[in-house]
Amino acid sequence: MFKDMEIRIESGERVRDVLPLIAGEGELYLVYDSEVAPWAGEIAGAARAAIAIEASEENKSMDTVLSICRQLMEAGASRKALVLAVGGGITTDMAGFAASIYKRGIRYANLPTTLLAQVDAAVGGKTGVNLDDYKNMLGVIVQPVFTFLTPEVLKTLPERELCSGAAELLKTFLIGDAAAYGEAVRVLREGRDLGKLILRAASIKADIVRRDPFEHGERRVLNLGHSFAHALEHEARLREDDLSHGEAVGIGILLAARLSERLGLAETGLEERLRADFVAAGLRTDCPYPLECLAAPMAKDKKAADGTVHFILPVRPGEVIIRALTPAEAVRALIA
Ligand SMILES: NC(=O)c1ccc[n+]([C@@H]2O[C@H](COP(=O)([O-])OP(=O)(O)OC[C@H]3O[C@@H](n4cnc5c(N)ncnc54)[C@H](O)[C@@H]3O)[C@@H](O)[C@H]2O)c1
Ligand SMILES: [Zn+2]
Repeated sequence: MFKDMEIRIESGERVRDVLPLIAGEGELYLVYDSEVAPWAGEIAGAARAAIAIEASEENKSMDTVLSICRQLMEAGASRKALVLAVGGGITTDMAGFAASIYKRGIRYANLPTTLLAQVDAAVGGKTGVNLDDYKNMLGVIVQPVFTFLTPEVLKTLPERELCSGAAELLKTFLIGDAAAYGEAVRVLREGRDLGKLILRAASIKADIVRRDPFEHGERRVLNLGHSFAHALEHEARLREDDLSHGEAVGIGILLAARLSERLGLAETGLEERLRADFVAAGLRTDCPYPLECLAAPMAKDKKAADGTVHFILPVRPGEVIIRALTPAEAVRALIA
């Protein structure tokens, strides 16, 4: 009965270490980002067919999902098939969605190739696509049979993508593990291997999702920094600025810390302390837009209910609380 809430995180040194996990699969289909073709190539021999996609937000659409489904059908995929997604969050979101609707649902698994997807997108079962300009408007929550984490794939990941993932990594530790937060800041500052920290962040997220898979309560904490981040991303799109999701999340967390201080919830100096950490870790920390711009897009965010937004507010590293405020109240408190 609780089968859908099983969340399995596996790991290995190398991409090829996933092979034992898929050894018994008679019908394996890879759905991979063409950008990571060499990584997918390492395990392509185990698959019946490999379906390449181009990972961009414009392509993160029903058209691409339909094309994946069509290729599965043409290859003769039955209900026993397993889809293995190899790529970043765009790929795992779309492959998982395609699998979840193909023949009313076949199994899928994830082999995330970005830091962001390893600690966030490929864990937790949210799948989906954009609808016109609205991000992740269509989708379902279905857990993958496993998520396989390997640091090997990060060797080819561009620095900016790494920083983007680092923001989500620090976010997870700010929510649930103060010691890991401190360690992650040090490791990022020294440019060392993130290895075990990636696994730790993925398991913290998995634990939260296990307790609240459909985001009725606790899972909301994973949105730390995201109400502000989505508003910043909205503003960036209007101005045609180049601001990545991870960059927006880093800045969003700092705004959440400031709000938390202004409301008397956080220890004083938290924002400045986090800012120093984020700078050391190589994250972007300057808010590029006037705070007044943020209220309107926050009110439109799909997570806003009855005019209020559930703001996730850090109290200290490892501890957050949830407060419902209207976006206007939040912005007023920030500016005051
Ligand atoms: N399902 C969820 O819970 C969840 C959570 C967070 C984000 N997301 C979604 O994830 C997406 C963002 O994920 P992302 O940052 O992984 O994006 P992505 O899939 O676009 O990957 C980022 C870029 O890196 C490239 N790339 C991927 N792996 C690489 C590698 N190993 N080496 C070199 N290049 C590589 C990709 O081609 C792409 O250009 C968004 O669409 C977001 O909505 C989903
Ligand atoms: Zn995010």
